[in-house]
Amino acid sequence: MVTEIREVDVVVVGAGVTGLTAATELSRSGQRVLVLEARDRVGGRVWTDTVDGQLYEIGGQWVSPDQTALLETLDTLGLETYSRYREGESVYIGTDGEARRFTGEIFPASQHTRDEIERLIILLDELTAATDPAAPWSQPRAAEFDHVSFLSWLESQTDDAEARANIALFIADAMLTKPAHAFSLLQALLMAASAGSFSNLVDADFILDKRVIGGLQRVPLSLAERLGEGVVLLGQPVRSIAWQNDSVIVSTDTLEVRAAHVIVAVPPNLYSRIDYIPALPRLRQQAAQHQSLGLVIKVHASYETPFWRDKGLSGTAFSPYQIVHEAYDNSNYGETRGTLVGFVSDEKADRMLTLDAEDRRAQILASLAAYFGPEALAPAVYFESDWAAEEWTQGAYATSFDLGGLTRYGALQLEPVGPIRFGSSDLAAEGYQHVDGAIRVGRRIAAEILSQ
Ligand code: FDA
Repeated sequence: MVTEIREVDVVVVGAGVTGLTAATELSRSGQRVLVLEARDRVGGRVWTDTVDGQLYEIGGQWVSPDQTALLETLDTLGLETYSRYREGESVYIGTDGEARRFTGEIFPASQHTRDEIERLIILLDELTAATDPAAPWSQPRAAEFDHVSFLSWLESQTDDAEARANIALFIADAMLTKPAHAFSLLQALLMAASAGSFSNLVDADFILDKRVIGGLQRVPLSLAERLGEGVVLLGQPVRSIAWQNDSVIVSTDTLEVRAAHVIVAVPPNLYSRIDYIPALPRLRQQAAQHQSLGLVIKVHASYETPFWRDKGLSGTAFSPYQIVHEAYDNSNYGETRGTLVGFVSDEKADRMLTLDAEDRRAQILASLAAYFGPEALAPAVYFESDWAAEEWTQGAYATSFDLGGLTRYGALQLEPVGPIRFGSSDLAAEGYQHVDGAIRVGRRIAAEILSQ
C-alpha cells in the first residue's frame, strides 16, 4: 500500500554503478534525484562480502588500463588499486588432459594449433578494428556477421578443433558466458571492440590487470554515501512506471514518486518486471526479449598459503576442456592466505547446477587440482557466487543479443521512450558488460537529461 508520495526531478531505478553514476552527475548539476533500489544493498552486480571470515569479490572486480572512466572514478573517490599476482608460469590443459606449463599468451598446443590461433587472432583484430563499439550495426558487413553464429564462423575459418575451442573460449566462456553457437560473430566483435581489440581480450594481464583495495563495491558504496542521506532508498523494488510525454509516476509497494524523468538503470532482462502504463512501444517490448544474460559460476577457494606460487605457478590457468575454463590467483591485498578464483560457464554451469552442492564442489575442486595439484582439493574456505539465484540479476556477467538481434534492435535500445531512459553496462560501447561501461552509460544519460 502506498504510504508516501514524493516529488523530484529525476527518479533512478537501480543503485548499480550505472544508476549511481547518473544520480551523481544529475545531483551535482542541481537536480533533485531519488534512487530506488530493490535489494537491501547498493552495487548490483558489484558486491564485496565476507564469507566464513574471508573477503570475496562476489561480483565484478578487475580493472583494465583502457577503462579510463572507472580509473577516473576510483581517483575521484580516493580508492587505491593493486596488481593481480602474475609471477611464474601459467597452466594449459589440452585435448590429452595433460597439464602443461607456459608463459605468454599462446597456449602450449601443437605447432599447427598455435599457428591457427595466432592467425585467427590477427583476423579477428582486423574485423574488430572495423567495428565501432558505439554502433556495431554500422560495421560494413554487419548483417552478414550478425546472421552467423560465432561457432559457425570459426568452423568456416579453420579445421583445427583445438584452435576453434580456444578462440571461442575468449569470447564465449570468458566474456558472454554463453555457448559460441548462441551469439553472432557481430556480437563477438562488439565484445572485442569494447575492450579495444581482440588481442586485449586474449591478454589476461591487460584485461584482468588491477583490483581495488578493500573491494570494488567501495565504488557504489562511496557514490551512494556522497549522494547524501535519503537519496538512495533500499528495499524498494519499482513495480510500475506510469508515463506521459513530460512526466512520470514511479511506484514501489509503499512509495509513489512524481518526476520529469526516470532512468531505468537495470539490465534489459529485467525491464519486463516493471509495468509500464501505457505499455512500451511494440518494438521496445520485442527488443528486450532478444537480450539475455549469460551464466557463470564464479568459484572462490582460499588456502592457508598460496601453495601454487611455491611451485613457480602464477595461478593463471586455461582449458576449454575443463569444468573450470579459467582460473587466477585472487589473493587479497596484504593477506597471507592464498585465494584462487575459477569460472564455470554456460553449458558446463548448467550441468554443475544439476548436482547437489557437495558433488558440485568436489567436481569443481578436482578441476582446480588438475591445474595446480592435489593441494587445491582442500581449501580452508570455499564459495560459489550464484548470480542465477539472484532475483534482481538472474545470471552473469551481463546480457547479449541472440542471432540477428544486434542489427535489428541495437540502435533502438539507446533511444528514450518519452521521459523514460534505459541504461546499464549491457548498453555500453567502450566498457560493454563492465563497470567502466556502467559509468560511461550513467554519464551519457545524465548529460542527455541535462541538455534538454
Ligand atoms: P547492475 O545490475 O549492477 O545494477 C542494476 C541494479 O538495479 C541492481 O542493484 C538491481 O538490484 C536493481 N534493480 C533491478 N530491478 C529493479 C527494480 N525493478 N526496482 C529497483 N531496483 C531494481 N565487470 C568488471 O568491470 N570487471 C570484472 O571483473 C567483472 N566481473 C564480474 C563478475 C561477476 C560474477 C559479475 C556478476 C559481473 C562482473 N562484471 C565485471 C560486470 C559488472 O559487474 C557489471 O557490468 C556492472 O556492475 C553492471 O552495473 P549496472 O549498474 O549497469 O547494473
